[in-house]
Amino acid sequence: RVIPVILCGGAGTRLWPVSRKNFPKPFLKVGAESLIAQTVRRAAAVAKAADSQDILLVSNEGYQFLLQDECAPVLKSEGGNLALHQLLEPQGRNTAPAIALAAQWAQAKYPNENPVLLVLPADHLINPVAEFVRVAQQAVAAARKGWLTCFGITPTAPETGFGYIQQGAPVDEINGTFAVQRFVEKPKLSVAMEYLASGQYVWNGGMFALRAGDVLNALEANEPTVAAQAAVVWGTAKATVGSAYTFNKDEFAKLPDISIDYAVMEKASNVAVVAANFQWSDIGSWAALAEQCEADSKGNTVQQEGEGQLISIDSNNTHVRLGNRAVATLGVENLLIVDTPDALLVADKSRHQDVKKVVETLKAQG
Ligand code: GDD
Ligand code: MG
Repeated sequence: RVIPVILCGGAGTRLWPVSRKNFPKPFLKVGAESLIAQTVRRAAAVAKAADSQDILLVSNEGYQFLLQDECAPVLKSEGGNLALHQLLEPQGRNTAPAIALAAQWAQAKYPNENPVLLVLPADHLINPVAEFVRVAQQAVAAARKGWLTCFGITPTAPETGFGYIQQGAPVDEINGTFAVQRFVEKPKLSVAMEYLASGQYVWNGGMFALRAGDVLNALEANEPTVAAQAAVVWGTAKATVGSAYTFNKDEFAKLPDISIDYAVMEKASNVAVVAANFQWSDIGSWAALAEQCEADSKGNTVQQEGEGQLISIDSNNTHVRLGNRAVATLGVENLLIVDTPDALLVADKSRHQDVKKVVETLKAQG
């Protein structure tokens, strides 16, 4: 059995002012559908191929109904008898606790099976679906042999926002799968440059295939407070409407805030990586979104989200996200302009990673 587990937690502060608390990144429309709808479609494809019925969403409790509204039509159109389940967090405590709770849920639901969890972030752009399904099946095969399996993406730049994986010996009998020699989460720039130049590293795609029991064991061995507190929190689980669970707030707050990459992937010895050659983008910033748009002859891109019109005169390499107002650029270069009804971002394009500082400043001002 394979259970897709979709993690839908982070607010995506580098996409301010569009991605905010009440409208986080997974709800962003890229192409015809929101990122979360596309993720559910991919998850459904893997579940159906494995003859599994469940998809588990782990998210903040504030998104329960917003998520159901977004996912229900997708599941319906995918057919089959797929059921959506939800774990509702009172607050975000990062990916290690979220995955630990998903593993607890899976073990409680299928006590004698040790099901494979296919952990998927809710905010990635991946194409084509068929190639994703093929790679996911390889990862699942490795997970069934006890490997904590990552997806390796061919790196194109010394990005510091990703995990880097050094491949070791091939894993027996599974094509394109290697033991992980070394996993380094978010290295500093000089190290990332070194890794890129060496040609020995791939990016961690942020997706994982692992058995529920294996990831709980790995947490127990490497980050025991996460494992122990997740068990306590799971003990407080309360079923609520629509196959969803809520948890005790005070116990939840005691979960350590740590990602699965730091908690497990950097430390465990049974980590493997499968080569993922599909088109992959962590839509982490406006620059990543701009890359999805077709540029004009001067390198300008535009994202049309409302009725607004763009008047671009003697401007180069700009990215404009239009709302309902007309926007004009005149004689400017390398600008990022994001127009929304109540907030406007004007930034140097090269500072796309720093947009989160705007959110930090706003927060500090209350
Ligand atoms: N439910 C829940 N609760 N989900 C969460 C939480 C949480 O507390 N925190 C993060 N998530 C979700 C995010 O919404 C996202 O879908 C996914 O988990 C990954 O979290 P990010 O915060 O986006 O991680 P990252 O991008 O910095 O790093 C990870 O992804 C990279 C690839 O995109 C790491 O796995 C890196 O190694 C990897 O390269
Ligand atoms: Mg991310």
